[in-house]
Amino acid sequence: MKTTISLIKADVGSYPGHGKVHPVLIETAKKELAKAEKNGLILDFHVMGAGDDLELLMGHRAGEDSSKIHGLAWRTFEAATKVAKELKLYGAGQDMLSDAFSGNVKGMGPGIAEMEFTERPAEPLVAFMMDKTEPGAFNLPIYKIFADPFNTAGLVIDPNCHAGFKFEIWDIQEHRRVFMNTPEETYDLLALIGAKSRYVIKRVFPKEGHPKLPEDEPVAVVSTEKLYQIAGEYVGKDDPVALVRAQSGLPALGEVIEPFAFPHLVSGWMRGSHNGPIMPVSFKYAQCTRFDGPPRVVAAGFQISNATFVGPVDLFDDPAYDLTRKKAQEIAEYMRRHGPFEPHRLPLAEMEYTTLPKIMNKLGDRFEKME
Ligand code: 13P
Ligand code: 13P
Ligand code: MG
Ligand code: MG
Repeated sequence: MKTTISLIKADVGSYPGHGKVHPVLIETAKKELAKAEKNGLILDFHVMGAGDDLELLMGHRAGEDSSKIHGLAWRTFEAATKVAKELKLYGAGQDMLSDAFSGNVKGMGPGIAEMEFTERPAEPLVAFMMDKTEPGAFNLPIYKIFADPFNTAGLVIDPNCHAGFKFEIWDIQEHRRVFMNTPEETYDLLALIGAKSRYVIKRVFPKEGHPKLPEDEPVAVVSTEKLYQIAGEYVGKDDPVALVRAQSGLPALGEVIEPFAFPHLVSGWMRGSHNGPIMPVSFKYAQCTRFDGPPRVVAAGFQISNATFVGPVDLFDDPAYDLTRKKAQEIAEYMRRHGPFEPHRLPLAEMEYTTLPKIMNKLGDRFEKME
């Protein structure tokens, strides 16, 4: 029987401001999921906080897009929202963009990364959670994990990785998708995913003929929900999550977390309107402070055992990432000095999805025609 791992997240309120998930919300979510574990709906769970985002990681047998699992996540977020409102937390219910659950949380505000697969004898899995950025922030690291031989030694020296991987890319503006193989289509792939606000990596699959893994079972998945498209106005950034499997024909665990040693620039940060470095941190530092950031990523590492979680290991709680964090702070300082100027502030096209158009409208009739 296959295992499904679902990581479903929502910002249902935080303190102070957009800083951090309150521990009472974590406790509330744990209670809800413990009930579901007791009645057999899920086999195991972990509740975590990444900045202001409440993260529900669940192991079960119900498959992807199960209305029961999505219903459970929705009810859990509702319960946490209720507590957030009682405490008058900031943005209580922020990502709950619909009043009525109709079978799937997709398109309702929460972000979802789910994958169903056949468990191997040993199944290492990393749950990545980012705050103050958008799904395209995963493009660079996921590309490096599965397609860059300077990151992943296994692409060169492991015969089971050597043939490369298959990427599923979503065009989140036009709602279409394309599958591309690496290494042979590397340059075409990069032409798309370098435009990270539009083309996002949704899944990675083993290539046809992989010696150890079925080609139709994903090895990585990223949440790609866009809040703006759902709400029709700026309500917050679409802080993304991802699940990545490792080892035995896949990149090793150290290869999966290696791309995060480079604090690449992502969009998000203050008011979802600024470019800044993504800083890998331990859960202890999963709280957004300076200028509501800088954007952060946490990583929880597990062995999956019959749809239960052995772990987590807080993977960025390691001095090996100190230099990265220092670099991220230097970049944050450098970017901040630009104040309201691009490229710290996002380009106009992306500011369309923020509150800026309201300001621009006000100025509209003061513009005079020129020859
Ligand atoms: P061990 O020899 O410690 O099992 O490590 C093997 C490996 O592939 C590390 O990336
Ligand atoms: P979140 O998307 O994490 O809620 O942050 C929104 C924001 O405006 C931060 O300044
Ligand atoms: Mg928030
Ligand atoms: Mg957030």
